[in-house]
Amino acid sequence: MADTVTALILAAGKGTRMHSDRPKVLQTLLGEPMLDYVYRALEPVFGERMLTVVGFGANQVEAAFPDYMENFVLQKEQLGTGHALQVAWERVRQTGADYCLVINGDTPLVTTEAVEHLASRAGNVDVAFMTISPQSAGSFGRVVRDSTGRINAIVEAKDYDHAKHGPVTGEVNAGVYLLRMDAIESLLDGLRAENKSGEYYITDLVGMAVNNGLIVEGVACGADVNLMGINSPRELMDAEKTMRYRIIEQLIDKGVMIHNPETVIVGPHVTVEPGAELFGHVEIYGESTVRTGVVLNSYTWITDSSFASGCVVRQFCHVEKAEVGPDCIVGPYARLRPGAVLRTGAKVGNFVEMKKAELGEGAKASHLTYLGDAVVGADSNIGAGTITCNYDGKNKFTTTIGEGAFIGSNTALVAPVTVGRDALIAAGSTITKNVPDAQTAIGRAKQINLKRCMKKS
Ligand code: UD1
Ligand code: MG
Repeated sequence: MADTVTALILAAGKGTRMHSDRPKVLQTLLGEPMLDYVYRALEPVFGERMLTVVGFGANQVEAAFPDYMENFVLQKEQLGTGHALQVAWERVRQTGADYCLVINGDTPLVTTEAVEHLASRAGNVDVAFMTISPQSAGSFGRVVRDSTGRINAIVEAKDYDHAKHGPVTGEVNAGVYLLRMDAIESLLDGLRAENKSGEYYITDLVGMAVNNGLIVEGVACGADVNLMGINSPRELMDAEKTMRYRIIEQLIDKGVMIHNPETVIVGPHVTVEPGAELFGHVEIYGESTVRTGVVLNSYTWITDSSFASGCVVRQFCHVEKAEVGPDCIVGPYARLRPGAVLRTGAKVGNFVEMKKAELGEGAKASHLTYLGDAVVGADSNIGAGTITCNYDGKNKFTTTIGEGAFIGSNTALVAPVTVGRDALIAAGSTITKNVPDAQTAIGRAKQINLKRCMKKS
């Protein structure tokens, strides 16, 4: 039977170098926390067989990942990565694993392939860990090999002593380890915090394993594998840039047209189908979907929204939790707030705001309008300056407009109110009573014309 491997994600650290009260693993890249990237890379290999060590801001991490909470292990005091492993050890044991794959939670660029590659060493080694050779070794732990190339130890940057450890090779520790449970168990208690940081280092296990005659391998990743750990805002910026290009290139290769790609941002959970066209300075986040044939023009910000095929978003729109049906036109300068729904061929023009409101098939609100808590029937026309007055200071009320209705410009619809199908509202009306089907309503002061008094000079 193949050896079973359980993954252990170390996510308890504060991330002092981020200068933030938010736990480091909740810092975001392209709108998603870095821990989310680690879970997504590991899930295809480990499924539910994943434990996470949390500590600093544990409540916040739990709130962000409620589905994973059951598999959280609390490290009350964060005494180092080695200590995190000690705290979680029993829980890993309980999963019946032969091996534990430990990964730093601040490594969001990790890929499924890289993890798979390391996990595939199970059965052959006692300890294996991934190494990289970045342009700058920075604060990474240095990998020390003997003259024959065999691993000697990992020495943390702070503790590196050239006289003792020899010249630096540039090969460093990526923070992903494969540990054979039975081989490592007896070494765990031997970890000491006798180093410049005063912490228990997981990396010391490597030297200890070598000294105990165990089989230890440093698995070098290819040059194209970027496994940087994120410890500072600058590293977060670099990683976000790398992730952004990774996603953009995948989309382009798949058949999405992207103009000015250096200004397009697409989050990792966003689906963009081949044949969609994105113009620069567009940002799409969350669980958004952009179907084939959609055109998203410049300066638009989108989150958790869907765009059915053939719709066009003109410049400068803000779209949040909205559903845009096929062949709709949105913008320029439209704001779709949560619960905005546009049915096939509907149109929302400039300075129109929608919230919890539905525009039926072919309906139009082309200028300067607020539709909140409203249902608008198919083929209705909402004139410029129409406002649904949905809020009385305490409660929200619904406005219902039937199919084919025509709402004249500058109309205030005081909810709750219903305008029947094919009804017409005269411009400038304030509508407080229901309007039956096919009726015309005029709700405004009657115009009177008076003789103009002219001053005599
Ligand atoms: C660590 C490695 C270093 C490696 C680098 C790769 C050690 C001692 N050093 O350094 O060799 O090159 O990662 O990115 O491990 N954590 C806990 N509990 C703790 C402390 C940390 O869960 O008590 C978690 C952190 O949340 C983080 C991860 O462990 O996700 C790594 O900790 P971090 O402080 O970032 O270690 P590095 O200094 O980057
Ligand atoms: Mg780190």
